[in-house]
Amino acid sequence: MTLGLALQEYSGDDLQPPAEKTLLGKYELGKLLGYGAFAKVYHGRDIESKQSVAIKAINKQKIITGGLVAHVKREIAAMRRLRHPNIVRLHEVLANQKKIYFVLEFAEGGELFSKVAKCRFSEDLSRRYFQQLISAVGYCHSRGVYHRDLKLENLLLDEKWNLKVNDFGLSAVTNYQNQIQSDGLLHTMCGTPAYVAPEIFAKKGYDGAKVDIWSCGIILYVLSTGYLPFNDPNLMVMYRKIYKGEFRVPKWISRDLKRFLSRLLDTNPETRITIKEIINDPWFRVGYKDANLFSDHFEMKCGDDGCRNSSLKSLNAFDIISFSSGYNLSALFSDEDGGEMFLSTVAAEEIIEMVVHAAEEERLTVAARKKWWVKVDEGHSCNFTLTVEVKRLTVDIMVAEVRWRGGEAEPGPEIWEGRLRPRLSGLVYRPDGPVAGK
Ligand code: ADE
Repeated sequence: MTLGLALQEYSGDDLQPPAEKTLLGKYELGKLLGYGAFAKVYHGRDIESKQSVAIKAINKQKIITGGLVAHVKREIAAMRRLRHPNIVRLHEVLANQKKIYFVLEFAEGGELFSKVAKCRFSEDLSRRYFQQLISAVGYCHSRGVYHRDLKLENLLLDEKWNLKVNDFGLSAVTNYQNQIQSDGLLHTMCGTPAYVAPEIFAKKGYDGAKVDIWSCGIILYVLSTGYLPFNDPNLMVMYRKIYKGEFRVPKWISRDLKRFLSRLLDTNPETRITIKEIINDPWFRVGYKDANLFSDHFEMKCGDDGCRNSSLKSLNAFDIISFSSGYNLSALFSDEDGGEMFLSTVAAEEIIEMVVHAAEEERLTVAARKKWWVKVDEGHSCNFTLTVEVKRLTVDIMVAEVRWRGGEAEPGPEIWEGRLRPRLSGLVYRPDGPVAGK
């Protein structure tokens, strides 16, 4: 049976697990679960709680060169608001010099794809998963978040075999080569074209909600028949079939399901069924436990781990990525030669004052200072300089950028790490584990 392209599983020796076995000392990295063009997903374990997680490592450079920084930021901001029992939860986002890491809920049951690839589902089982899918999709749409790459390979199962939609709101990040290009349209030529709605081929914009509903229709068709409604080895022929929207249903499909599928796979997005209409459809409603999709039913309550009503209490790497410009976050997470950043809740003037004080104590020269920055050196005979510049990250949080240059025998790390930083450790705010000033 042909179901389009499966998520690529790790099979070769060419993709070794990353040399560094932990992520910020917080997560142990395990085996590779799958990979795409520029993202790899690993099994991970929270070192403290021993809980399994999935860690998606995304190449930062490719996002920057792809001009998707703003898009990524928007998607991350959207993802952090989503909490639903049928959506893989994004726990946090971390970063180092080269990569952004999404720490995700681990779906223990694996891919729904592999289950249906063995045998098509009964109508009842197809309905159960479709109801869970619509619950997740409706929830996200009501919050303005669209998946745009819904397909069976993005549907996972938890330990109780409940559906978990993967990457909701992150599809443009993790699959960006298939996504919005300079003309603003979705391009799936190198992705999984079988799930693409026909309006995508028109040289116009499209409604993200309607596109997701079409993909849900394809998913329902595959669950209940075991194969794709529009398929052909020749892509152009497949697109033509999608465009025409003519599909056959096998004889074991009930009349109600056939009618429902034709409403989902309506080639006209204007007349295609909406989420509200889906929920009221007689085929869909059988055994449906009505959760109120459009309320904050699934939102976390204050006091939950993810609740963030104060930037000061809750800021972590996740927020830092959302707030900071240019994604040049490496110094927040590593302390490579040349510079380092640290976070502080202390006012800028006070940070500068304390750096000046520390420099004087260490018999360094304060060459220049302003409200937001200070430059220190070792006196006229040496070309070494170290600057500390303070920028506001949020109302409560400052980022201090430390940079050094010149001098012999690399005195930068020695002067900063060995002499100044220990005197400034009281300034450093650690949102989620060590960031700097260790
Ligand atoms: N593969 C990709 N993402 C996953 C996740 N969140 N859980 C399990 N396997 C995955």
